[in-house]
Amino acid sequence: MAFDNKLVEEILKRADIVDVISSYINVIKKGKNYLAICPFHDDHHPSMSISREKQIYKCYSCGNGGNVITFVMNYEHVKFFDALKKIAEIIGYDDPRLHETIKVVSTNPSLDVLYDCSAELTKFYQYALSTDEGKIARDYLDARSLGENIRTKFCLGYAFNDGRLTIEYLTKKGFSLKNIENIGIALARHASTTDNNAGRLIFPLFDLEGRPVGYSARRLNDDKSLPKYVNSPETSIFHKSNLLYNFHNASQTCRRDGYIYVVEGFMDVFAIDEIGISSVVALMGTALTKEHLQLLKRTNVEVRLCLDGDVAGKSATMKAIKELDEARIPHRIVYMDNELRDPDEILRGDGPDKLRFYLNNLTDAFNFSLAYYINTSPIDSPEAAKEIIKSFVPLFANITDQLSYDNYLYKLSEATHYDARALRTYLASLVTAYRQKKVVEEESIVVPDALNLSYTYNRQLKGPLRRLLLIEDKMLQQMVLHEEAVNFYEQNIKYFFDEVNRMIANFLIDYLENHEKLDLSEIVAMVEESDVKDKEEIKKKLTDIAYIDAEPYSEEMLVEYKKIIDEQKQKIYERKRLEASLKETTSESDKARIIRDYNKMRYKDFQQSNTEDDKDEKK
Ligand code: CTP
Ligand code: MN
Repeated sequence: MAFDNKLVEEILKRADIVDVISSYINVIKKGKNYLAICPFHDDHHPSMSISREKQIYKCYSCGNGGNVITFVMNYEHVKFFDALKKIAEIIGYDDPRLHETIKVVSTNPSLDVLYDCSAELTKFYQYALSTDEGKIARDYLDARSLGENIRTKFCLGYAFNDGRLTIEYLTKKGFSLKNIENIGIALARHASTTDNNAGRLIFPLFDLEGRPVGYSARRLNDDKSLPKYVNSPETSIFHKSNLLYNFHNASQTCRRDGYIYVVEGFMDVFAIDEIGISSVVALMGTALTKEHLQLLKRTNVEVRLCLDGDVAGKSATMKAIKELDEARIPHRIVYMDNELRDPDEILRGDGPDKLRFYLNNLTDAFNFSLAYYINTSPIDSPEAAKEIIKSFVPLFANITDQLSYDNYLYKLSEATHYDARALRTYLASLVTAYRQKKVVEEESIVVPDALNLSYTYNRQLKGPLRRLLLIEDKMLQQMVLHEEAVNFYEQNIKYFFDEVNRMIANFLIDYLENHEKLDLSEIVAMVEESDVKDKEEIKKKLTDIAYIDAEPYSEEMLVEYKKIIDEQKQKIYERKRLEASLKETTSESDKARIIRDYNKMRYKDFQQSNTEDDKDEKK
């Protein structure tokens, strides 16, 4: 194991999962367990259950689950050891071992080479910027006042005009043409392999952990016949719609700041960073995606939309407001009046104070929307007024204090020339209808049947395999709860048919070699740290199992489980043998004999005990 086990155990003992999760999101007590709106999918209903007793959590909707370390890893997008450090911070625990640097072994070696290749390429582009040929790009950056700080912090670069140099360099560094193609730089199958970013200014694009995974390359002149930016294609490490430019930096500072600005492009990020605000991310020319919303939601801070002031930008803002509302992310809008310049242009034109003034000039969704409607669609008829009023219903439905409600109501009345008293009655009926519809929608979200263990594997399975896996799950469940059941498995069952079950059993056995008692949360940590390939599935299964009420433990029951497991395994192997011999046989009469023998054997079985199987098969 890569880390100090004892340290992990000490922290797990001190950290209470409910307390730690509560420091990130709201948690409510419900009976024995605690519930929360799951931060790992677009949840509207508290689907996440947290158990103080077992020190694990589980979302019944998206399946995410694990112990306190898993939660922090997923929530903060950090690796195991960093999650451990964060937990220590939250609970106020310090230990010198937390400050040692540890070489983390990655779990997906096939992607590692792509990350390495991208890192190497980024260095090459940075080097090119410093050369004689790179002067043209340096001049461009000078002209746009992008100084040394920005160039270094964002790893800006230049791609040589001769695109073959890029390929040559990477090849010399040991990367294959396939690797190079796989990071989206060139088409290796072309005879004259070259870099499609050649001659351009390079903005590396970073993933959530701050690794360069793609590039945006800007033309250095005003030649409108060329595209302004060339972006990397999607690759296995670069998914543009999942990324927000600068999120790896902004996510570090936004909690302290309490907000995160969302702007259009990287030039705007640089401008805002230059005036000392690093909690800013850029959409890079796309609309807000579901992934973006999730990232923003996880920051747990106010989103400040700062998109372009033109018609397209304003309508994008309206759309974003709606989506942020639906995702229940708090937000305000940077109000720039009739300003058509972007933050970069404002900084270069009017200086830092003006930009700072604008960034602090915030308005809420209601006022922004009202101004938007008044400017875009003239309210010249009662119908037009009604349409506008209707679009404000969701907003009114979410207001809980009377004063704000009234305040908005009067503003809306003024803007629509609708009599305030009539508007109050009209709105009230619309709001009630809206809330009722919403309740129906939310109630219809069903929590998957937690008691049906078999949902963790293929429901289509029939016959012996299905029965076998069901019993294996039951056995495993006893093993997670009772040390004796692990011993029983080791001595009598020895080998689960299902691979995931087998791996879990091995983890339990390993764990008990150094511990007296089972501790689910520590076992999850052990899985988390390991390099097994089905890590996610194992964690999911472990938490699934732990959330289901088990039958009371008895040795006799385990003996019964073993008997059924053996029987079902035997049937599976018999059938496999039958299939194999049928394949080898060409003569029809031999085939008939083999099947007859098989059926005879089955019939004997059937008389002896078991009818379940056939029932299963008829389903
Ligand atoms: N963008 C793109 N492809 C384009 C134009 C824009 O990918 N052809 C993306 C870039 O990520 C850019 C963002 O959309 O940063 C915003 O576009 P725009 O406002 O046009 O660019 P600026 O960031 O203002 O760049 P510049 O100031 O250099 O024009
Ligand atoms: Mn610009």
